[in-house]
Amino acid sequence: MKPSRTFALTGRTVLVTGAASGIGAATSRALDAAGANVVLVDLHQVPLDELATSLGSRTLPVAADVTDGAAMESVVAAAVARFGSLDVCFANAGIAAASPTTIPSSSVEEFERIIEVDLLGVWRTVRACLPEITKAGGHVLVTSSVYAFFNGTGNAPYAMSKAGVESFGRSLRGELAGTGTTAGVLYPGWVSTPIIKASRQGHPAAQKLIRLANPGPFGTPVTPERIARAVVQGIEDRSARIICPRRWAPVSAARGVVNILGDVVVDRSRRMQSLIRQLDK
Ligand SMILES: NC(=O)c1ccc[n+]([C@@H]2O[C@H](COP(=O)([O-])OP(=O)(O)OC[C@H]3O[C@@H](n4cnc5c(N)ncnc54)[C@H](O)[C@@H]3O)[C@@H](O)[C@H]2O)c1
Repeated sequence: MKPSRTFALTGRTVLVTGAASGIGAATSRALDAAGANVVLVDLHQVPLDELATSLGSRTLPVAADVTDGAAMESVVAAAVARFGSLDVCFANAGIAAASPTTIPSSSVEEFERIIEVDLLGVWRTVRACLPEITKAGGHVLVTSSVYAFFNGTGNAPYAMSKAGVESFGRSLRGELAGTGTTAGVLYPGWVSTPIIKASRQGHPAAQKLIRLANPGPFGTPVTPERIARAVVQGIEDRSARIICPRRWAPVSAARGVVNILGDVVVDRSRRMQSLIRQLDK
């Protein structure tokens, strides 16, 4: 079966993880405006209830941890009981290190928790949603990052997870090809949300490294509303990839060369190496 070229969201049910803040909250608002029923998932009930109240009756706010597969299955069951089906899953919840640090200086707990949430949380969310989404001929969208193709120095567990999420989303799209159900990957650049606070206001060496590695407009954060608009459009188009802002699209397209050049710069730049040493605790 050929997937429909456009997938209007009116009347569809969309599950959003990480819905209480940033990209998830902005996207939940945009999905609601597009006429979708929105299942709002995040760690704590109160902010979800507040968002649901501001949106109206076509929402279901449910607190759950994306690393808990059984809890995610219960959320899906609640969504189907309330709205009759589940058409789209936006596996978006994520965390970053409290402060950028090098691999040998990382705490085991934090390193592994980032992978648990950012990579395994996506897998467990999608695994719980997929039976209903395939029944509906719907769409799965997973949040990766430009960190999937960016050198992850100082942020290794995050970069590892985001590269893994990209690979997961692409694998899923390939496996679903021709079935009528689709999957895509979202690659946000820098976005002004709480998750970037540690990189932007934390260790001065990390801030300098980020400025060196993200020259000019690449380092300028965009609003979560801009990502939300791209997400709604990308779901309606069943896009394989959503790169936002678009200035990152040529970098992604040329990543074979860009990656090699980026690694050479780190190998040779005494300035960068001295900043990286300052991230060793
Ligand atoms: N902000 C950026 O610059 C940027 C860039 C690229 C990718 N991303 C990705 O976008 C996604 C959304 O991030 P954001 O920028 O909106 O950050 P954010 O901190 O505003 O929102 C993340 C949300 O995820 C929730 N969350 C964390 N752990 C969870 C768990 N175990 N179970 C359920 N919910 C959990 C948090 O409570 C929070 O509400 C993340 O995957 C992030 O890695 C963000």
